[in-house]
Amino acid sequence: MLQTILSKCDERYQNSRREFSDCSYPQYLYDCEACLEHVHHPDRFPQDPFVRHYDCKNMADYYTCKYSCKYTSELIYGLRRMDKLRSEPALRVLSFGCGPCTDLFALDQMQESGELTCQTIDYRGIDCSKDTWENVHKDIKGFENEMCTIRFYYTDVIDIMADITRWTWTPNLIVFQYLFSDMLKHSGDQKTRAFIDRFAAYYNEKILPDTYIILNDTNLHILAGGGRDYFDLLAGKLFSSSVRKGRFFNAHSQSAGNPRGYPYGEDSDGEFSQNKNLFTAIESGQWDAYSPATYCKSAQMVIRKEG
Ligand SMILES: C[S@@+](CC[C@H](N)C(=O)[O-])C[C@H]1O[C@@H](n2cnc3c(N)ncnc32)[C@H](O)[C@@H]1O
Repeated sequence: MLQTILSKCDERYQNSRREFSDCSYPQYLYDCEACLEHVHHPDRFPQDPFVRHYDCKNMADYYTCKYSCKYTSELIYGLRRMDKLRSEPALRVLSFGCGPCTDLFALDQMQESGELTCQTIDYRGIDCSKDTWENVHKDIKGFENEMCTIRFYYTDVIDIMADITRWTWTPNLIVFQYLFSDMLKHSGDQKTRAFIDRFAAYYNEKILPDTYIILNDTNLHILAGGGRDYFDLLAGKLFSSSVRKGRFFNAHSQSAGNPRGYPYGEDSDGEFSQNKNLFTAIESGQWDAYSPATYCKSAQMVIRKEG
């Protein structure tokens, strides 16, 4: 699935470059790398006339080619820590801030390799950026069949919590993949905390034993724009749950003010022994045009609801 989706994104992106078509922000000189810089580091551009979000279809194609192999690899490492999930016959996935669905790529890859034995996947992705991900989601929907259903809900995660709480459907895998760092930048700390409160109430009331949550995000604390501190905040609000956390090897994000970087999960799994990107396309340079992120370097938490 990953390879097919990236090929489609690449083709679309290259066509748009040839024609210089559909650029939402030509003032950034048709350079999606520059646009992503504005999305990821709004503080570096205080003079910016626009507050940039994930807000352009071309950027979505570029982002998918740039980050998916790394993000998918990080999730595969995390999913491998979920012993009970591996023998689950039917996966029901709820993904908050799903974007290009790197969680679905990870599950598909693990099904292919026999690491997961599930027969069915029921995937529900929530994202507020409908137009941005429209093309990528259309491609992903092309993978639907009787064993795999894929639905998207285009709304703010905070607004959908009341609806989700009313659903009779409950997930057995919940994903927060690079959501909190983005929410912090674009919705703010207060709203992110309000969302966490609503989610925790839902989890404590409705979520069944043996459901897993994976949280994966930049290994930086809130003051540096990272999402990992919200993992601990969220975990602290969940009843009857076991928690493991850690970070990828060599993931310390060093800076002059923090020469030793930001350790994470020292009281748990600590530093993982590997950080290798699991996709050979990265080593072979297939996506080099997108300056792809090559090795895993996130902070990660895996939560399981106890019986
Ligand atoms: C950094 S991207 C991560 C996307 C995806 N999870 C991945 O693995 O690549 C963050 C995503 O969260 C979405 N997002 C951010 N804040 C949101 C909110 N309040 N409600 C719904 N989606 C949100 C953005 O539109 C974007 O697609």
